[in-house]
Amino acid sequence: MNCVILGSGKGSNARAILEASTQQFLGNTKIKAIFSDQPDAQILSIADSFAIPARHLSLDEDSAFISSDESKALFEIINEYSPDLIVLAGFMKILPVDFIDKFQGRIINIHPSLLPSFKGLNAIKRAFDHGVKITGCTVHVVTEKIDDGKIIAQAPVRVMETDSLESVTQKIHAAEHVLLPSVIAKISQEYIKLSQ
Ligand code: GRF
Repeated sequence: MNCVILGSGKGSNARAILEASTQQFLGNTKIKAIFSDQPDAQILSIADSFAIPARHLSLDEDSAFISSDESKALFEIINEYSPDLIVLAGFMKILPVDFIDKFQGRIINIHPSLLPSFKGLNAIKRAFDHGVKITGCTVHVVTEKIDDGKIIAQAPVRVMETDSLESVTQKIHAAEHVLLPSVIAKISQEYIKLSQ
């Protein structure tokens, strides 16, 4: 199963995926490339350090949206790797409908809350400020609506009285780093079937 990863930042989830791949935990998954709209993003250095092609996506940095010209270019560059699965791991752009349609059902995203609660930005802080006692992370299918597609898997994280925003954030990231590779492994082994 050919897999590519898109991200904009630290790349800790990409690292967890690559480590799982190195340890042969991802079934027949091959991580073919990692893409980022941010040329200096750490996720690209992580790709380099695992000898995975690291590709910069040239997108308008002033917009969260992707224009139709950009979308065509994005499809071309990503399709070079014939992906069976596209993983969004902290990708801060909103994918256009035509792009999502071309890969229907084969794009997944990790979000740091128990969806459908706390969609969108700053989800960990908003859940913490709300006083939730259980939060967590979700892997879901990407659709044109933000953080809204079919839920594939979730991991809960308890919020204790002694927790701070920082400690909850760490616990959620730790949960993500287990959940996302395990979902990729299950997709590659067809324990999880993505509708086409
Ligand atoms: C993760 O918390 C993920 O849930 C969210 O963006 C963050 C990406 O972190 N979508 P990293 O770049 O993988 O470290």
